[in-house]
Amino acid sequence: MNTLNEAPAIRVRDLVVGFGDRVVLDHLALNVRRGEILGFVGGSGSGKSVLLRTIIGLLPKRQGTIEVLGVDLGPANDEAWRALERRWGVLFQHGALFSSLTALQNVQVPMREHLVLSERLMREVALAKLEMVGLNARDGDKLPSELSGGMTKRVALARALALDPELVFLDEPTSGLDPIAAGDFDELIRTLQQTLGLTVFMVTHDLESLNTVCDRIAALADGKVIAIGSISEMRRSPHPWMKAYFQGKRGRKLSPGLSAMES
Ligand SMILES: Nc1ncnc2c1ncn2[C@@H]1O[C@H](COP(=O)(O)OP(=O)(O)OP(=O)(O)O)[C@@H](O)[C@H]1O
Ligand SMILES: [Mg+2]
Repeated sequence: MNTLNEAPAIRVRDLVVGFGDRVVLDHLALNVRRGEILGFVGGSGSGKSVLLRTIIGLLPKRQGTIEVLGVDLGPANDEAWRALERRWGVLFQHGALFSSLTALQNVQVPMREHLVLSERLMREVALAKLEMVGLNARDGDKLPSELSGGMTKRVALARALALDPELVFLDEPTSGLDPIAAGDFDELIRTLQQTLGLTVFMVTHDLESLNTVCDRIAALADGKVIAIGSISEMRRSPHPWMKAYFQGKRGRKLSPGLSAMES
């Protein structure tokens, strides 16, 4: 194994990000291991999407270092950025499909940006990606307004996978889905991660997802990662937000053993 492979998929140190007077991320540190599904939790407005957007270069940092797939983003030039952008895929929190493009054309957007492929080949590859997420050619011809919420998420995932990335960022991929659709989507993410050897950074509020698909969980509060580990480690955390989140009514429902542990 070479040293590049041993580097974490994402390594963040001393990261400070803010808007005006408001500091959102305050000397944050985080490691995401290669090949894991890391669930990232935190209260609404705590800065989860800000962290994701800062890592992929959409928001500026005030301080700190970010390394992705062994590359330090600070000194990286345009060429290095473009090379990295080909190695990751992103599913944004608010779906962000282009409304005037069909599902298939949406999946092709990153290919047009980064690859030189014939139309025919691009269609083939995009169809294969749609198939990978459980959609067919007929779905591919639909406009976003003609897709259900679950299908929209699947198209967005297919687009995130368009360039065969090593790393995918998913921002609340199951929000707005019914529990069955969310469960199916979780299973899909797990299967893809296992078959493609992906590393997944997944922001989620979905305790069921955290329980079933995530290898580790990291929690964000007060601008910092306050805990990282397995779900049972999360449940043992003394931090008030963690207690409320993982041992609150919804958290408890998922852990029948917990009431016995507590009494
Ligand atoms: N571009 C921006 N300009 C100014 N403030 C911003 C910007 N983006 C985010 N913020 C602020 O940063 C804070 C963190 O926002 P963020 O979207 O990261 O929250 P979140 O943890 O993803 O919440 P949610 O779970 O609701 O999606 C919020 O107070 C938000 O208003
Ligand atoms: Mg968010």
